[in-house]
Amino acid sequence: MKTIRISEAKNFVGETVQLKGWVYNHRSSGKVRFIELRDGSTETIQCVVFNGTCDEASFNLSAEITQESAMIITGLVKAHPKKEGVYELDVHKLELIQKAEANYPISHKEHGPEFLMQNRHLWLRTPRQVAIARTRASIIKSIRDFFDSRDFVLMDAPILTPSACEGTSTLFETEYFEEKAYLSQSGQLYGEVGAMAFGRTYVFGPTFRAEKSKTRKHLTEFWMVEPEIAYWSLEENMTLGEEFVVQIMKDVLSRNKKELTILQRDIPTLEKIAEGGFPRVHYNDCVEMLNKNGHTFKWGDDFGAPEETKIGNLFGDKPVWIHHFPKDIKSFYFKKDAEDPRYALGCDLIAPHGWGEIIGGGIREENYETLKNAIVEHKLNLEDYQWYLDLRAYGSVPHGGFGLGLERAVSWVCGLEHIRETIAFPRMLNYLRP
Ligand code: 4AD
Ligand code: MG
Repeated sequence: MKTIRISEAKNFVGETVQLKGWVYNHRSSGKVRFIELRDGSTETIQCVVFNGTCDEASFNLSAEITQESAMIITGLVKAHPKKEGVYELDVHKLELIQKAEANYPISHKEHGPEFLMQNRHLWLRTPRQVAIARTRASIIKSIRDFFDSRDFVLMDAPILTPSACEGTSTLFETEYFEEKAYLSQSGQLYGEVGAMAFGRTYVFGPTFRAEKSKTRKHLTEFWMVEPEIAYWSLEENMTLGEEFVVQIMKDVLSRNKKELTILQRDIPTLEKIAEGGFPRVHYNDCVEMLNKNGHTFKWGDDFGAPEETKIGNLFGDKPVWIHHFPKDIKSFYFKKDAEDPRYALGCDLIAPHGWGEIIGGGIREENYETLKNAIVEHKLNLEDYQWYLDLRAYGSVPHGGFGLGLERAVSWVCGLEHIRETIAFPRMLNYLRP
């Protein structure tokens, strides 16, 4: 007997097959019983248990099953009489592998987010979570394909680090034998090593920030992909970032329509984003736009969630690049604009409708003395950055890159209300378990 995945049912119409899965839902109507089986495919399948087409033992068994019971079901694959693209199984035989206890916590009624988060290990079984997980995996593939096909060498940055990359206020500290270490906030500084070694590189791994506020956009543990390129300009950086986001959108649209449909994502909006043409706006122009549109915003401040949402929305559905930030709101490593050193050569990509900053990046200071002074000014321990300064002593070139937050991207692509659904086990201020 051939075992198939539910997603393959369309190729087996008229054939008798075996499905191995779990009972997602069940009901009976007169002499017919219906089992909605899930097996991790994006779709579930309705299995029709009718006393006449299935054996008697199986029919009796179908009266006893509980939600999440593990079952192997044998039957004939049929196309749904009315719904196109939907398939059913006419059951011949049911085999119960384990009868789930009757008190499965996640029933088919509405549950609040806190309850679902406590049961995250079970919540992941529901079709919506399967659709998100599959889209996330697809985006990861897209990320790797994009850089691998452009001759970027993948390099893994360390997680345990002796120093900060993105300011000291969000560092997670841990003991490292006789000294202190910090969980990496970003692989960038090591990515710069890679850029000087390989010309172009990307770092992709988990990063950590002790974010003390609960928001819909902040995790304490998130995955970031960070390309870093030697001989590079701010304009090239924005062009690469745009091509990158466009490729992710195209791949998801070609591979994940089923998932996007389950998530009720507005597909034409994603198609528009996949056309590219993201606006590029100077920080000063953003400040002016905000003040013209009912926000009182002071030059020199950083954009918070309300400003990001406002700016994002002023440009419709496409994300927008903001570039040339005041240097004082940016990290120590940013190169300053040669024409006006009040500005750092940074660029952030902001998604509309509140999904916020998807990409943060820019050009790095390449001059030894200037960078050394910036480290001292930011009150960082010079000794910890000596290896980083070496990159400026030996063959220093203009270089830069960016970091894309994977969960931010998943949240935006899937159209989610909250970032907690984008990763299997989200870590936030109030979430450490399961
Ligand atoms: O803007 P950030 O802090 O930039 C960096 O870390 C640079 N070193 C990257 C680089 O140039 N190589 O973070 C980059 C991105 C943000 O745009 C956002 O998408 C994501 O990382 N991010 C978070 N995602 C989830 N939760 C958080 N707490 C995040 N903080 C940043
Ligand atoms: Mg940023």
